Amino acid sequence: MKTVIISNRLPVKIIEENDEYTFIPSEGGLATGLGDVYKSGNSIWIGWPGIEVPEERQEEVTQKLAELNLYPVFLTQNEINLYYEGFSNEVLWPVFHYVVTYAHFEQSYWDCYKSVNEKFAKRAMQVLQRKDKIWIQDYQLLLLPGILREKLPNATIGFFQHIPFPSYEIFRLIPWREEILNGLIGADLIGFHTYDDVRHFISTATRLLPVNSSSNVLNSNERQIVVEAFPMGIDYDKFSDLTATEKVKKEIDYFRTGKEEMKVILSIDRLDYSKGILERLKALELLLQAHPEYIGKIELFMIVVPSRDTVPQYSELRDQIDQFVGNLNARYRSINWIPVNYFYRSFPIEVLSALYATADICLVTPMRDGMNLVSKEYIASRNNNDGVLILSEMAGASKELTDAVIVNPNNLGDIMEAIVTALKMPLDEQQQRMKAMRAIVEKFNVKHWVNNFILRLNEVKDSQKSLLTK
Ligand code: F6P
Repeated sequence: MKTVIISNRLPVKIIEENDEYTFIPSEGGLATGLGDVYKSGNSIWIGWPGIEVPEERQEEVTQKLAELNLYPVFLTQNEINLYYEGFSNEVLWPVFHYVVTYAHFEQSYWDCYKSVNEKFAKRAMQVLQRKDKIWIQDYQLLLLPGILREKLPNATIGFFQHIPFPSYEIFRLIPWREEILNGLIGADLIGFHTYDDVRHFISTATRLLPVNSSSNVLNSNERQIVVEAFPMGIDYDKFSDLTATEKVKKEIDYFRTGKEEMKVILSIDRLDYSKGILERLKALELLLQAHPEYIGKIELFMIVVPSRDTVPQYSELRDQIDQFVGNLNARYRSINWIPVNYFYRSFPIEVLSALYATADICLVTPMRDGMNLVSKEYIASRNNNDGVLILSEMAGASKELTDAVIVNPNNLGDIMEAIVTALKMPLDEQQQRMKAMRAIVEKFNVKHWVNNFILRLNEVKDSQKSLLTK
């Protein structure tokens, strides 16, 4: 009996260079969070390897991935355009992040979303064995629980959503809302990062479907679906231990040399309008205007990891960031100082670890975020218990990391004040806050998250069985 993880993307993706395929880790919370854990358990993973693979090379890719217990679902370019870029990232992503004006409710996107969810189901049926547990991940596969339930009425199916679930008033705007909900309730257990997401989902389901709820249980046609919050964690030990490795120590020395007096502010995100990157830059500009005493004394290291840049809103955002950073730096820089060190690329984990370990402040100000694991990675990397986390109240992580300096990301003055507070915060206060947050991130790590979800899934299934035999 194994756990079959199914997500849109595999934890590795293919990069093609001169006709050669290499496999590198995928970006994003899901892959980085679950990517190591699945290896240690009795699990396999089904998902898309990230590019269109021509038919004649699919066997080669399948064999290479099988060595890692990964099972590919191959998508055509048309499916990538309509299901992934289209419905997933131009309908569900903006709506679930409350940016409804970005949503394009195209019928062709929806049709393709349905057929690709069917395709995933077909692939799953090829590898599933009786008694396997099925654990479906995220908004790209909302219909999959329902499709698999029809094929396997007694299967154990869990679903976890890594992004927020919006309030009913937002969700109801989607033209295909009932079908989406019917897909989701094919699961036995539905998990979200926060209790607010759970509330939104239950209230939406009971208003739009013929189901009723008692507490966190939905009752539909003699099936019960449990809906609960499982705040995702990170591999705390990995991040904490990394900072002590020779490779990272070297990076830290390299990074800090000549910057001994500089206060370093760090921000790391995938390129996304939900991350509040432009707003963060505007808050920094405000700070330099209102507090010129910090000119030459602080530096922002801003890493933006390329993501979905074939979706128009993402490439537009990239241009806007380029322009803003260019203007800000041109206006405030001096010969040997620059306010924003901006990188549009990904970095090896050792470099990220060195940045986490050296940054005086980590600025995490998404407009809306399911959890935000960067905030937790920063905390796990602070072995000296110093440093200040500034965290948006719109990130799921703010529910747990209450010792961060919490801000409303729409209030630029609030972010600016928070930076000033962080810059002035006495060491003993930093340590007090950091210790409290480290204890939480250490305890509720990603293994705890996986075990907790799977344990609950087993319990839910067992209680359903005992209901049936009564
Ligand atoms: O964590 C949310 C998420 O959307 C994941 O589902 C996804 O794997 C990750 O962000 C990165 O997004 P994408 O797969 O579109 O690059």
